[in-house]
Amino acid sequence: MSIAITGASGGLGRRVAEMLLDQVDPTQLVLLTRTPEALNGLEKRGAIVRKASFKNPTGLKADLADVDRLLLISTNEPGTRLEQQRQAVSIAAQAGVQHVVYTSMAQPSADNPSFLIPDHVATETALRESGMDWTFLRNNVYTEGLVPAGKAAVARGALLSNAGDGGTAYVTRADCARAAVAVLVTDGHEKEAYDITGPEALTQADLAALLTEISDRPVELESLGDDAYFDRLYDEGVEHEVADRMASFGEATRRGFLKKVSSDLPDLTGRPAVTVREVLERNRDVLQQA
Ligand SMILES: NC(=O)c1ccc[n+]([C@@H]2O[C@H](COP(=O)([O-])OP(=O)(O)OC[C@H]3O[C@@H](n4cnc5c(N)ncnc54)[C@H](OP(=O)(O)O)[C@@H]3O)[C@@H](O)[C@H]2O)c1
Repeated sequence: MSIAITGASGGLGRRVAEMLLDQVDPTQLVLLTRTPEALNGLEKRGAIVRKASFKNPTGLKADLADVDRLLLISTNEPGTRLEQQRQAVSIAAQAGVQHVVYTSMAQPSADNPSFLIPDHVATETALRESGMDWTFLRNNVYTEGLVPAGKAAVARGALLSNAGDGGTAYVTRADCARAAVAVLVTDGHEKEAYDITGPEALTQADLAALLTEISDRPVELESLGDDAYFDRLYDEGVEHEVADRMASFGEATRRGFLKKVSSDLPDLTGRPAVTVREVLERNRDVLQQA
């Protein structure tokens, strides 16, 4: 069975590719990327590397002609990615792909106010209607993002948030990769939506306390309303659109869309999910040097 990964040079795609190379025949692994030169090392290990982009549908169809199972990684261009991803789904079906595994997001429902959600809802819908088998990996927020955000909070002495008491079940990118590999190499995941989460949901108050402890510097939680949070970010130089998006994310958190903790990840991978504390402690130096 041939497995392909789109976006194979990204943070997630590369990890999945490296793990798959230890588990499958490398000649059955197709890595699709806009930057093939970034994957020279994996090509040397036997993987097939092809230059591909959702912006080049004709090329994508040829690239997928011999592929049975596809990991379709959502792109990092919210707003413009939706039409590209819909088209990629349609091309995969035309090319004869049997099963698409898609990296979605926690709680992709119409009432979720996060700016990221509409693209995921529509891509999931396109897959349900495609005639192919599908699996959704609804990845929660990456824990790794807490390192630069935590560093900024330590430097400021305050963690700014409009998330109220909302919890987030942060999950590491490496755990997301392990879950993707499990779904790609084993059967029985057709028409399943998995909630890929960490082992607990942390509030921003929990996070401020952890940052204080690990950095050994005081980090106060500064809890703001949506408008005040937006204004504060904007005043600190964050672009209007980015501040608006961050506020929508905080609102989604406050309203509970990111708090669900699931056993899907350990069930799929056979190992416990990594905690936020482990990641922050691994980055103690970064936080203490803020
Ligand atoms: N859960 C979270 O907290 C979180 C955080 C950040 C992102 N995400 C989502 O998860 C995805 C994977 O995470 P990541 O850490 O790997 O992100 P990343 O390192 O920023 O990688 C971006 C990905 O987008 C792909 N891409 C961009 N434009 C593309 C195009 N025109 N056609 C096909 N692929 C395109 C890239 O592929 P190539 O460069 O190889 O072509 C790469 O795989 C992100 O793209 C984003 O949708 C989730």
